[in-house]
Amino acid sequence: MEKIIDEGKQGEALLTINKKENTRKLFIESYGCQMNFSDSEIVASILAKEGYNTTQKMEEADLVLVNTCSIRDKAEQTVRKRLQQYQAVKRKHNPKMKVGVLGCMAERLKEKFLEEEKIVDLVVGPDAYKDFPNLLEEIDAGRDAVNVILSKEETYADITPVRLHTNGVTAFVSITRGCDNMCTFCVVPFTRGRERSREPQSILKEIANLVKNGYKEVTLLGQNVDSYLWYGGGLKKDFKNATEIQKATAVDFAQLLDMVAIKFPKMRIRFSTSNPHDMHLEVIETMAKHQNICNYLHLPVQSGSNRILKLMNRQHTREEYMELIDNIYKIIPDISLSQDMIAGFPTETEADHQDTLSLIKYVKYDYGFMFAYSERPGTMAGRKMEDDVPLDVKKRRLQEIIDLQRAVGHEQLKKHVGRTEEVLIERTSKKSKDEWAGRNSQNNMVVFPKENYKIGDFVMVKINDCTTATFKGVAVGYSENN
Ligand code: SAH
Ligand code: F3S
Repeated sequence: MEKIIDEGKQGEALLTINKKENTRKLFIESYGCQMNFSDSEIVASILAKEGYNTTQKMEEADLVLVNTCSIRDKAEQTVRKRLQQYQAVKRKHNPKMKVGVLGCMAERLKEKFLEEEKIVDLVVGPDAYKDFPNLLEEIDAGRDAVNVILSKEETYADITPVRLHTNGVTAFVSITRGCDNMCTFCVVPFTRGRERSREPQSILKEIANLVKNGYKEVTLLGQNVDSYLWYGGGLKKDFKNATEIQKATAVDFAQLLDMVAIKFPKMRIRFSTSNPHDMHLEVIETMAKHQNICNYLHLPVQSGSNRILKLMNRQHTREEYMELIDNIYKIIPDISLSQDMIAGFPTETEADHQDTLSLIKYVKYDYGFMFAYSERPGTMAGRKMEDDVPLDVKKRRLQEIIDLQRAVGHEQLKKHVGRTEEVLIERTSKKSKDEWAGRNSQNNMVVFPKENYKIGDFVMVKINDCTTATFKGVAVGYSENN
C-alpha cells in the first residue's frame, strides 16, 4: 500500500489505494529492431503487475517510456528529438508525467542521460526490466533512478508479454539475448551484453499461449538466432565447461526449430536474424523438412569485399558466404533471401564497393536493409579506425547499392507472377479498404480483394502483378492449412 495523489480529484484528500490496482497509465513506444518491440511487450507485462495500464495518449500517461536504439547516430538523434516532444507535452498538458528511457541508448549513456536530457527521470538497460518495481518507488519518491546492469542469465523466460499494437495474427517470441560476435562496427554487444539462450520449454509455452489466443504466425527473435544453444542456462561461451549431461541434452537452433514446427503444425514459423558464420545447413534442412517454416531467410553480410569483411571481424569470407548461399538454394530452391549492407566502412575503396555490388547480383536477394557506415563510440572500429570515406562518397555508394538491390529484387519478385501462393491475412491494405494485405511464405507482401475472407485466414492467392515491393492478386480459396 502506498499513498498517491489522484490527479483527477484535485483538492480532495490523498487517496490510499492499493498499488496493484489498475490505476496508472503507461505510454510506451519503441524504436529500432524487432527485439526492442518485443522487449517493450515484456516491460508492459512487468508494469501491468505494478498497476499500469497502457494508453495511446501521452497526455494522460503517468509514465512515458521510450525503448531506444543506438545502432546508428541517426537512430539516437531521432530519440533525442522525440524527447523534446515529450518535454512539450509535459509542459503543456501533463506536468505530472515521468519519463524513462529503455534499451540500447539507456545502456550506452547510463547516468549521462540524466544530465544530457533534463526530461528523463528513469534510465533502464535491456537486462534490468525486472527491477522496475524498485525503480518506480524511487521516481515516486521524487528521485531519479538508473539500472543498467547487464546480466549473464536474464532471458525474461518467465514473463508473459503483453501484446502491444497487435494484429492478433503475428507475434514475436524472443529466444536469445545479446551477441558475442563483436563485429567491429556494431554497438549491440556493448548495449545488449553477452549472448544467452532462453529455455526451450518456456519458448514452447509462450507459443502454445499464442496458439490458444488465435495467433497464426510466430517470429523467433534473437540478434543471432543460429547460435541459439540451451544447455541449462548461462552464457553460450561457457558451454565448454558444461557437464557431460548438459552437453548431451543441449538444444541447438535447428533442434529448437524442429521442436516448434512439430509441436505447432498450424503455426507459421519465421526467425530473425541469422548470421552467416553461425548458420548451419541443418537449419536449412529443418526449414525444408517442415512446410510450416517459411521459405525466407534474412542473412546480413554487410560487405562483399574480403578485406572489409576481415576489418569488420565478420568470421567468413566472400567465397564462404557464396558457398553457403549455393547450398541454401540447393536445399530450398524457392527460398527468398534478404540482406543488410553497410556502405563506406573505413578504408572502403571503389574496388571493395564493386565487390559488394557483384555479391548482390550473385545472391539475388529479394530485398535489403542498406545503410551508410555510422561510427559508434566504444566499438573497435570507432576506437581504432578513422571514419575516412567522405560522406558524399558513402552516400553515392549507398545509392548504387540500393538501386542495384531494387533492380535485382524486382527480377526476383517477377518470378512469382502467375503462381498461386498461400497468404496469411494480417490487416487491411494501406492503399484500399476493400483489400487485404498479408505475406506469402517468402515474406513478400500480397494484396487482394477482401471478398468473404477475414484476418487470420490462410488463403491461396493467384499473383497477377507486382510493384516494387508488393504483389497484387486474387484469392482462389482457403489453403488446406486454414
Ligand atoms: N544481428 C543483428 C544485427 C543488428 S544491427 C540483427 O538482429 O539484425 C542491424 C544492422 O544494422 C546490421 O546488420 C548492420 O547492417 C547495421 N549496422 C550495425 N551497426 C552499424 C553501423 N555502425 N553503421 C551502419 N550500419 C550499422
Ligand atoms: Fe552486431 Fe555483428 Fe552481433 S552486427 S548484433 S555484433 S552479429
